[in-house]
Amino acid sequence: MNDMLSLEGRIALVTGAGQGVGRQTALHFAAHGCATVLVNDFHAERAAAVAAEVEALGAKAIAVAADVTDLDGLGAKVRAAVAEAGGLHIVVNNAGNAGPVDSIGELPPFWETGPDDWARWLDTNLYGVLNTCRITVPLLIASERGGSIVNIISDAGRVGEPHLAVYSAAKAGAAGFSRALAKATGAHGIRVNAVSLASMRTPGLESMLLDDALVKRMLKQYIVRRLGEPSDAANMVLFLASEAAAWITGQTYAVNGGYSTSQ
Ligand SMILES: NC(=O)c1ccc[n+]([C@@H]2O[C@H](COP(=O)([O-])OP(=O)(O)OC[C@H]3O[C@@H](n4cnc5c(N)ncnc54)[C@H](O)[C@@H]3O)[C@@H](O)[C@H]2O)c1
Repeated sequence: MNDMLSLEGRIALVTGAGQGVGRQTALHFAAHGCATVLVNDFHAERAAAVAAEVEALGAKAIAVAADVTDLDGLGAKVRAAVAEAGGLHIVVNNAGNAGPVDSIGELPPFWETGPDDWARWLDTNLYGVLNTCRITVPLLIASERGGSIVNIISDAGRVGEPHLAVYSAAKAGAAGFSRALAKATGAHGIRVNAVSLASMRTPGLESMLLDDALVKRMLKQYIVRRLGEPSDAANMVLFLASEAAAWITGQTYAVNGGYSTSQ
């Protein structure tokens, strides 16, 4: 039987793909026939390492070391990579969490923080998505095969996390933007969806996951009593990127072990 999730002949950009969910998404794409994966990360060595893993699976890879919060810098590198690859069909806005740092540290109550504290959450999780879409929508339109944009948000943006108020705001903003962009780009054959994750076992959460008692308390809030794995998220992203999801746009899908439920 044909692979209904085949990405044969497609060219994809995954932001923040140097580890965690983004890395696994890049590998899933390569395993399902994607012709070229543009592997973006702020950290050049991570982008290069994952690009090598993608190539080991038989796809072409181009490492795109750039900060998604830098519209001009990202734009120059993505446009050059797309010219080299010969087009663009799929964009996954995955770079997120607290930005390019691996620890989120202690978070004071929102009312004790100010714009300098808010910037790192808003910059990558909201402006990074706007920047990447600003750069790539014209490239998707020019590729003339339609396209799929998948934005990784968080259940924090759907139900609110008291200790992550600005992150919650940024992710809710990215989800609202996804719905608007779906309507704005639909006539060009571009679909835009969001995937909402709850707690995942990724390097971004590593320091928190060392606290067994905390993890046990966290898991009490999940119907499926385990943390998410990067492949749980990548499975849904692959589906939305593929033609199997050709009639799906403007939606948010939760991949969250039942942390929150929806109608
Ligand atoms: N891990 C979780 O529990 C969880 C939960 C809900 C949502 N999410 C979301 O899922 C996505 C992936 O999370 P993860 O835990 O796999 O990530 P992670 O923190 O383990 O890795 C993210 C990667 O993105 C890169 N990155 C960060 N900021 C960047 C920037 N400005 N420009 C370019 N690259 C940048 C980092 O260098 C890193 O390699 C994020 O959007 C995150 O907000 C994660």
